[in-house]
Amino acid sequence: MISKRSIERVFETAKVEDVVGNFVSLKRRGVNFIGLCPFHNEKTPSFTVSPSKNIFKCFGCGKGGNSVNFVMEHEGYSYIEAIKFIAQMYNIELEEIQMSDEQKETQEKRDSLFVVNEWAKKRFSDNLFKTQQGTNIGLAYFKERGFRESIIKKFDLGFAIDDSKDLTNAAARDGFKAEFLKELGLISKNDYDFFRNRVMFTIHNLTGKAIGFAGRIMGNNPKLPKYINSPESEIYNKRKILYGLYFAKNEIRKLDYCILVEGYTDVLSLFQAGIENVVASSGTSLTSDQVRLIKRYTNTIKILYDGDAAGINAAMRGMDLILAENIMVKLVILPENHDPDSFMKEVGPSEFLKFIEENEKDFILYKTQLLLKETSGDPVKRAYILKDIVATLAKVGDPLIRSMYVKECSNLLDIDEKIIVSETNKIIKKEIRDKAYKRQRENISDASMEVVDEVGKRSAPSQSLLARSDEYQERAVTKVLMEKGHLYFDEEEQLLVADFIIMNIMDTLSYFENKAYKRVIELTIKERERGNIPDQLFYSNNDDSEVRKMYVELVMNPYDYADWSSRGMELQTQKPPEKNQVEETKQAVMRLNYKKLNKIIKENNKKMSEQETNSEEFIMLMRLHQKLLEEKKKMALQLSIVIQ
Ligand code: GTP
Ligand code: MN
Repeated sequence: MISKRSIERVFETAKVEDVVGNFVSLKRRGVNFIGLCPFHNEKTPSFTVSPSKNIFKCFGCGKGGNSVNFVMEHEGYSYIEAIKFIAQMYNIELEEIQMSDEQKETQEKRDSLFVVNEWAKKRFSDNLFKTQQGTNIGLAYFKERGFRESIIKKFDLGFAIDDSKDLTNAAARDGFKAEFLKELGLISKNDYDFFRNRVMFTIHNLTGKAIGFAGRIMGNNPKLPKYINSPESEIYNKRKILYGLYFAKNEIRKLDYCILVEGYTDVLSLFQAGIENVVASSGTSLTSDQVRLIKRYTNTIKILYDGDAAGINAAMRGMDLILAENIMVKLVILPENHDPDSFMKEVGPSEFLKFIEENEKDFILYKTQLLLKETSGDPVKRAYILKDIVATLAKVGDPLIRSMYVKECSNLLDIDEKIIVSETNKIIKKEIRDKAYKRQRENISDASMEVVDEVGKRSAPSQSLLARSDEYQERAVTKVLMEKGHLYFDEEEQLLVADFIIMNIMDTLSYFENKAYKRVIELTIKERERGNIPDQLFYSNNDDSEVRKMYVELVMNPYDYADWSSRGMELQTQKPPEKNQVEETKQAVMRLNYKKLNKIIKENNKKMSEQETNSEEFIMLMRLHQKLLEEKKKMALQLSIVIQ
C-alpha cells in the first residue's frame, strides 16, 4: 500500500500543465493553456488548463479535474495506477507502508498472476514469430486471414505449440510456480498445457495488461471446441471485460459510439480497416457491467449481428437491463452468411460504415418485431408483449423519441396508438410522481444547489445570493455584450460575441426581469440585423439615454470583477476579463439560461398542477417537463453545478 504521505507528495508536485501536456498539445493563452479536448471531438479548443488552480476544464464537454483525474480518465487507470504514473513522471519514490500479512499475500498473488500472464503472452508471441511450427501454422493462418503483422503485434496475438508440455516445461525452466499457471488455467491440474495447437488471442484489461487468453483451434476437428478461454481468475472476470476495449476506448470517446461485435477476429478485422471503436463480447450476451464499461466513453452502442441471425434471441435476452442503463442501442443485421470480419473483407471500410448507417435499427422496434414473430397471432401472448414493450418504452427518456416509437410499435403490433400511449404514460406518471413526492419529502429546492469553484471543493453559496433575483445574471450578460460584443467569439466561424449571446438567449429574453437590460439586448439585435457591429461606441453614444447610462454603469465601472469573485462565482479562469471573452461569454450566458430554465420549469409545474392528470394537455406538459429537466441536467453539468 502506498503511504498517505507519498500520495500527498504526488499531488503537491504534479503540475497539471505538465501532466496534461504529456497527452495534449497545449498553447499558452494569457495565464492559462488551451488545447483540443481529448475527451470529445472538437475543432476549436475549449479545453483549458489553469496552472494557478492546478486543474483542467473543458468548456465543451464539461470534463474537469486535477492531474490525477486527468490520467485516470485519459488512460482508464485506477486511482493508484494514476498516482504511480505521475510519481514515475516526476521520479517521486512512493513509500510503501506495511500491509497486513493477508493483504500482502493477496497483493503479491495478484502481482504474480499478472507477471505470469505477461510471460505467457510473450511466450505465445515468440512461438508465433520465432518457431517453425508457429510461423508455418499460426502466422500462416493469420496472414491467410489477412491480418497484417502490425495488428498481430498490437493485439498480442500468439501461438500455442502442439505439445502438451511446451508451456509447462518452459515455466519450470523460467522459474514460475506451477500453482500460478494452474490458477490462470494455463496448465491443467495434471501439469499439461491447456492451450495446444491453437492461435492465441490475448485478453487485455483497461490498462493493457494481459488478464487471460482465448485460443482458436487450428484445422477442423468437430469434436473440439473452436475457441477455448482462460477460466476466470482473481484478475479475470469475464462479465467485466470487453475484448478490445483497451485499444478502442479513445476512439469510442471521440466518435461517441461503440461498435459491438461477437468475435475476436471481427474486432481485429475492423480495427485493421481503421474502424477502431470496436469491441467484442466474445460469444456471451452483453452484461450490465460491460454496458457500464462502455458508458464510461459513450452512450451509444451499435451491435452488429451475423447475417444468419442465429443466437440473436439469446442476445436479446437481458436487453431491457441494458436499456435501463440509459444507453442507446442500435442493431445492425449484416447480409446473410456474413460476419463483420467477412463482410469487411468483401466491401471494405467505407462501404462497411455506409452499410451500418443505412441499416441500423433501433432496438425497441426490432424487439417488437421479434416478439411478434414468436407469438404468431396468439392474443393472450400479444397482451404480454404489450406489457413488455410498454415497460421498455417507459424507459426511453426523450418524449419525442418515445412518441416516435409508440407510433411504430402501434403499427407493428396493430394496437391502437392511444392504448400504448396511455399504458406507457401510466408507468411514467407514476415514476414522476414518486420522484416528485420524494423531492418534496426531502424538501429539496433549487436553493440547495452548490457551486463548485474548484474540483472536489464545493462551497455552498450564501443564502442571500440564492435569494436574489435573476438580475445578477442578466446584468452579467448585458455587460459582456456591451463590453465585448464586437470581439470574436469564434474567429474561424466569424461569429461575434454579440451573435453568440443573441443566439443563445433568444428563448429566455422574454423572461428578463430588468427591462433596461432587455432593452440593451433588443437594440443590439436590431443593430446586428442591420448588419452593423455593435461596438462600445454604439452603446456609449446611443440615442437612447438609458443605454448610455447603462454603459457607464456596467462597463466603465470596475467593481464588477471583484463582485464576481467575492461571491464565489468567479470565472473559471483567473485571467483579466478582457483577454477572456469566450469563456466569460459562455459562463455568463449559461448561468443566465440556467436561472431562466428554473423559472420555466416552475411555471410548467404550475400549469401541470392545474390540469386533469389524464388530459392530453397534462401529457404534453409532462413531456415538456422531462425535456426541461434533461436540459437542466445538461447545463448543470457544463456549469459544474451539482443538483441534488
Ligand atoms: P473465426 O471462425 O476464426 O472467424 O472466429 P469468429 O470469431 O468469427 O467465430 P464465431 O463467429 O464462430 O464465434 C464468435 C465468438 O464466439 C468467438 O469469437 C468466440 O468468442 C465465441 N465462440 C465461438 N465458438 C466458441 C466455442 O466453441 N467456445 C467458446 N468458449 N467460445 C466460442
Ligand atoms: Mn468469423
